[in-house]
Amino acid sequence: MAFFIVFEGGDGSGKTTQVRNLYSRIRRRQTPVRVVHEPGSTVLGESIRRLLSARRKTGSSLPPIVPEAELFLFEASRAQLVGEVIRPSLRQGTSVICDRYVYSTVAYQGYGRNLEARLIKQLNEAATGGLHPDLVVYLDVPPEAALQRKTETTDMGRFEKEELAFHQRVRRGYMEQAAAEPHRWFVVDALLPTAQVSRLIWERVEGLIKDRM
Ligand code: TYD
Repeated sequence: MAFFIVFEGGDGSGKTTQVRNLYSRIRRRQTPVRVVHEPGSTVLGESIRRLLSARRKTGSSLPPIVPEAELFLFEASRAQLVGEVIRPSLRQGTSVICDRYVYSTVAYQGYGRNLEARLIKQLNEAATGGLHPDLVVYLDVPPEAALQRKTETTDMGRFEKEELAFHQRVRRGYMEQAAAEPHRWFVVDALLPTAQVSRLIWERVEGLIKDRM
């Protein structure tokens, strides 16, 4: 039976690499699987992604998107992704790995931007029709360390604009969600070596696959 796995993590947690590694490992098992990311992975979603990122760029002359509008854009992208891709894939027996999902909205728009938790919950439910993943892999990294990682690589823009305090609130948002649903969440220390993180995730997912057989 197909399974649905979500990856979550703050900026600079190495999420993209880990999504790719898990995808390859599952493929090696001849299990049909696809990767999608939020916002995006549909034509509508990619337009929304472009809208959002154009305004985030340093030096953009576009007026900023107010937090409420940003919330609706993320939810619109999500509703389309669930309806167009995730549900049909699962129905056909293709497992799905989704890079970010409803938990990002709770952490970033709720804890980060202080939008009302009840509203976010309602919109998340409406956008997904109550579709919950089998597993949430959360790559935890203290924002101070993520900042250091980013400066060593390329993408500094977001951290320059958004303060450390914001990312600390986001992390708390993730931790509280993980604590509320421990059976669904797998929290990994993203400061461990990349190969070890991949191994830990794979052990957890193998367990999930076995349970489903
Ligand atoms: P993206 O370029 O996909 O980065 P990442 O590799 O970190 O996933 O940008 C996604 C950004 O959008 C990221 O900063 C988190 C943010 N986001 C929200 O604020 N709310 C949401 O609901 C989602 C899905 C993402």
